[in-house]
Amino acid sequence: MLDALFNFDLFTLAFVILGLLFLLKLVYVPNNGPPGPRGYPLVGNFPLFLSGSKTKLFEQLRQCYGDVFSLQLGSKRMVVINGYETLKEAFVKRADVFSDRPVDDLISKRSHNCKGIVRSSGNLWKQTRAFSLQALREFGFGKRSLETKILEEVSVFLDIIGGKCGDAFSLGKIAQISVSNIICSISFGERYAHEDKTFKELMLMIDDHVMLLTKSAITNFFPVLRYLPGDVTHIEEMSRNYDNIKSAMQQQIDRHRATFQSGNIRDLIDAFIEEEIKRGKNEYLEDANLLIVLSNLFVAGTETTATTIKWAILFLLHNACVQKKLRDEITEVIGSSRLPSMTDKPKMVYTDAFIHETLRMGNLVPLSLLHGVKHDTDFKGYKIRKDDLVVPNLDSALFDETLFTDPHTFNPERFIGEDGQLNGKERTVLAFSLGRRVCFGESLARMELFLFLTSLIQRFKLLPADDENLPTLEPISGVVNYPQDFKIKAVKIT
Ligand code: HEM
Repeated sequence: MLDALFNFDLFTLAFVILGLLFLLKLVYVPNNGPPGPRGYPLVGNFPLFLSGSKTKLFEQLRQCYGDVFSLQLGSKRMVVINGYETLKEAFVKRADVFSDRPVDDLISKRSHNCKGIVRSSGNLWKQTRAFSLQALREFGFGKRSLETKILEEVSVFLDIIGGKCGDAFSLGKIAQISVSNIICSISFGERYAHEDKTFKELMLMIDDHVMLLTKSAITNFFPVLRYLPGDVTHIEEMSRNYDNIKSAMQQQIDRHRATFQSGNIRDLIDAFIEEEIKRGKNEYLEDANLLIVLSNLFVAGTETTATTIKWAILFLLHNACVQKKLRDEITEVIGSSRLPSMTDKPKMVYTDAFIHETLRMGNLVPLSLLHGVKHDTDFKGYKIRKDDLVVPNLDSALFDETLFTDPHTFNPERFIGEDGQLNGKERTVLAFSLGRRVCFGESLARMELFLFLTSLIQRFKLLPADDENLPTLEPISGVVNYPQDFKIKAVKIT
């Protein structure tokens, strides 16, 4: 009994001390930090996040406080960087400081162990990213062999859609499996049938991962919540789910180690093994790192492009005249008897403009991924601390009225100059972020989007399942902006 009382007292005392420390941390506001709204004790500005869309909130705060503002969220300060020029100033001109991931990020620790590409920082990130990029270039990132791999998947994709015989269907899973197969074949030399049960389960794990990332993000601001019973922050569920993805990747590594032959490099895994043999094991050349690289590519390389394809189709359903102009250009440049090729792209200005407009309006990763700074630094006259969470607000640039007139209207023509060529505005579409952390898979994604979309529009007329009720353009928002599930009819063009 006495024991219980003693334990309880210690627990209470610890709780009070922690609470006081927490409050002190909140009360202490360095006078030269970025401006922002006044917060409540303990929770800071968190209640503002409960009222709906973060991007709309950030738009209002930008109007009040300017391009760099801050929010106190629990024990963490979030610094939000807005507008094309200011984003460039931070993430390109000051890339040496602004290219880290945040310190003390529980999600990174639990799922990625701060390894791989997406959630690592410093030297490990630099070496892992550089080596993976070099290895993938050798397998054709940007080369013809990659185009062949993509076109193989495009053919299967078209066959499946043809098999729907004009009936209404949802494109989501078909696009997801097709796109994922490309990254699988680059990374571990294998593709899967669309009916493969294990692969379908893996696809569900990716869906769950992106959803759980959004749900567990609260642990970044209130780390103490993870100790509450019942996994209210979903951090355990997120980490269990990611363990399952990792274990599928580990099976691939084991299979490769068992069959590896020097001089016969089949894919990314083999390239890592060969480099490890050449240089010896080190921080980036070891299975624990390779495992996370593969999981990064598998997750990031699947959901993103597949979702952008869905956005493109949705915009076409809402803009029938855009679909007609695309098909006219495809007929003129490619014709109807062969599949598209990347060599057609320079002649297809309207298609290029359409893809840029889809990337802009689709606004796939509106707040990019969280960054951190390498050390305390001054930016635009404000102090940014090493333990701040830095948000590149891409949404603020994608819908910037000073860059794009009438930014909420879908209008590919905005990217075409009077001479009929792209007018340079397309380079300001920051859908892939910017600076040293710019999306690793940008060139692959652009190739996939061009080949999938042109061949789909070449072969099929895409119609809404219900002419009277077009599917909504309102996204399901989270780390990634998804279109709400919708059905289409794909009528074969004969
Ligand atoms: C339309 C498709 C895509 C979009 C819009 C997109 C967008 C992004 C964005 C906004 C970031 C965050 C950059 C930052 O931290 O500032 C990112 C990072 C990343 N993306 Fe993509 N992505 C796409 C496709 C892909 C594909 C196909 C792959 C796979 C090869 C990929 C792999 C990655 C990786 C590994 C990172 C982390 C980069 C790093 O931290 O150094 N992405 N992407």
